[in-house]
Amino acid sequence: MKLGRLNHIGVATPSIADSIAHYRDVMGAAHVTEPFDLPEQGVKVCFVDTPTDTGINGTQIELIEPYDDSSPINGFLAKNPAGGQHHVCFEVPDIDAARAEFEAMGKRILGPTRIGAHGTPIFFLHPKDMQGMLTEIMETPKGH
Ligand code: CO
Repeated sequence: MKLGRLNHIGVATPSIADSIAHYRDVMGAAHVTEPFDLPEQGVKVCFVDTPTDTGINGTQIELIEPYDDSSPINGFLAKNPAGGQHHVCFEVPDIDAARAEFEAMGKRILGPTRIGAHGTPIFFLHPKDMQGMLTEIMETPKGH
């Protein structure tokens, strides 16, 4: 494995609107994307950009709110009603190679490789195999 950039930290929230207000008003976030639905993943999503020296490509906070009653994050919010850190996401250059390497190490992969919120392929690794952290692996977007 070759560890890539920390692309985002996934934060579950009962209200994306309230969380956007928090990042803007309390944390001073200057740029937050419009929320959009990912019904096949059962979530509504938006991204809070954090700045970098170059002004581009900073690590993001991914705010995720349940899309409906069958959302995979409903269980997390039942245990953490105020929301909180849900997963971390690292980039890799080649998603298929990374998946094969994790499989060879005996790490449990949750479901198929699929298209994530950034429009690039992703998969998730079981937190019990990843030091207690639900870990998303994402292919680096082209052009970055
Ligand atoms: Co994510």
